[in-house]
Amino acid sequence: MKREHFLWLLSTTANVSAAPMLISGRENGDLFFSLDSKFRISVFEDLHFGEDEWTDWAPEQDRKTVQVINSILDKEHVDLAVLNGDLVTGENLYLENGTHYIDLMVAPLVNRSIPWASAYGNHDIDINSSSRALMEREKAIGRNLSHTNSMVKGKEAEVGTSNYYLPVYLSGRKSIELLLWFFDSKGGWAYQDRTSEGLKVPTADYVNEEVVKWFSETKKAIRDQEKRVIPSLAFVHIPVYATADFQDAGIDPKKEPGINEEVLGVQGNKCVNKGRDKNGNDEKDCHYAGGDTPFMKELVATEGLLAVFSGHDHRVDWCMKWTATKPLPHTDPSTGNDIHLCLGRHTGYGGYAGEIPRGARQILVRQQNLREKSVETWIRLEDGSVSGHVVLNTTYGQDSYTAEQTSHDGAWDDAKARG
Ligand SMILES: *[C@@H]1O[C@H](CO)[C@@H](O)[C@H](O)[C@H]1NC(C)=O
Ligand SMILES: *[C@@H]1O[C@H](CO)[C@@H](O)[C@H](O)[C@H]1NC(C)=O
Ligand SMILES: *[C@@H]1O[C@H](CO)[C@@H](O)[C@H](O)[C@H]1NC(C)=O
Ligand SMILES: *[C@@H]1O[C@H](CO)[C@@H](O)[C@H](O)[C@H]1NC(C)=O
Ligand SMILES: *[C@@H]1O[C@H](CO)[C@@H](O)[C@H](O)[C@H]1NC(C)=O
Repeated sequence: MKREHFLWLLSTTANVSAAPMLISGRENGDLFFSLDSKFRISVFEDLHFGEDEWTDWAPEQDRKTVQVINSILDKEHVDLAVLNGDLVTGENLYLENGTHYIDLMVAPLVNRSIPWASAYGNHDIDINSSSRALMEREKAIGRNLSHTNSMVKGKEAEVGTSNYYLPVYLSGRKSIELLLWFFDSKGGWAYQDRTSEGLKVPTADYVNEEVVKWFSETKKAIRDQEKRVIPSLAFVHIPVYATADFQDAGIDPKKEPGINEEVLGVQGNKCVNKGRDKNGNDEKDCHYAGGDTPFMKELVATEGLLAVFSGHDHRVDWCMKWTATKPLPHTDPSTGNDIHLCLGRHTGYGGYAGEIPRGARQILVRQQNLREKSVETWIRLEDGSVSGHVVLNTTYGQDSYTAEQTSHDGAWDDAKARG
């Protein structure tokens, strides 16, 4: 981005942030429910900025992605945007300027003073792309709008970067009503590291055990301090194995509405570098090895965790309930705790997808519905329309939805959403 443009964005932001803070759902960098007791999240998945950046059409593709983000923000009132992994196509970036794509992707957010938080994906770490450098760039551009953080010490290639939580407060009071957890499922390749043969070094594609330990200890500390279970949501780029096992048994389009057009790629693999292909690109050989079992066990052991949101698979966007009663035959642990696992809509024009319209998952949390464990969600598409509108409540997975209930034209807004 040109310097003049960036300065202009900063001055626009200064005007916007003069508006009353409580109404906009945020104050002094903390996240708040708005005065109508709602907290609304837009999840932008798989933006894939900088893909094939040496071509003529690459900048055009990124402009279209910015348009998608803007058209969604025109329709939705957003208290927090989540960039849920694969912000960039790391294998295509140049070492010296890869992080500059952050400026382009967050411009619509900076422009509107919308805070954001990232959970990095497998394409965010590669030989020329460091997720830690992406985080620093977010901070530099977003001042107090970027909430992306790194709370677990360790090497980038081992623990990753985006492992942290954010509290969301009730408007006016300092009590925490909701916790948002972010995890780094890594994957990709280690930054600036090669074997003695000059090959790239694969990075494990699941949430690291150190991170799982931190999650377990931190949620216990919060519980001890608050003396109650605080409802929570989680974001992690690569879905856990339970989603693939569930898909394998068959998705019911009335009970799990959404697109279901590819076999899910999931966390937990063992990968080795199998050498270079004929174009000189390093290739991986991966097979599932249960690497995500500690993470799944911890998710299932988390009281109050209502849903986990992932991206990664560009042609799937349903939500499932991982029940406490019906075992998933190939997953360890085989039963869940009735949490919801959701895939998202591919937002970027970079990355594979074919003709599927781009969009973003929206999450509407109403404070009064948290007690009955209910969260509403839908996909806002780039043409303004809505698909996959469901309520993740105690009967999700049994409720049967009609097409009229899950899809709406561009005139629909969340003021008309169900309870
Ligand atoms: C950003 O920080 C400034 C100074 O600390 C504060 O006045 C302002 O309200 C903050 N803005 C947001 C959007 O949190
Ligand atoms: C990484 O960046 C360097 C410096 O710009 C460039 O020469 C090299 O081609 C890039 N490597 C890859 C694999 O893209
Ligand atoms: C990075 O540098 C390359 C090569 O000069 C250029 O084609 C590309 O547009 C640059 N990317 C950004 C985000 O500035
Ligand atoms: C910023 O907002 C202005 C005014 O709404 C709009 O014209 C412009 O395109 C926006 N810029 C970006 C990068 O979204
Ligand atoms: C869950 O939401 C659906 C859709 O609004 C509704 O039909 C169902 O009755 C709700 N279940 C409960 C227990 O409220």
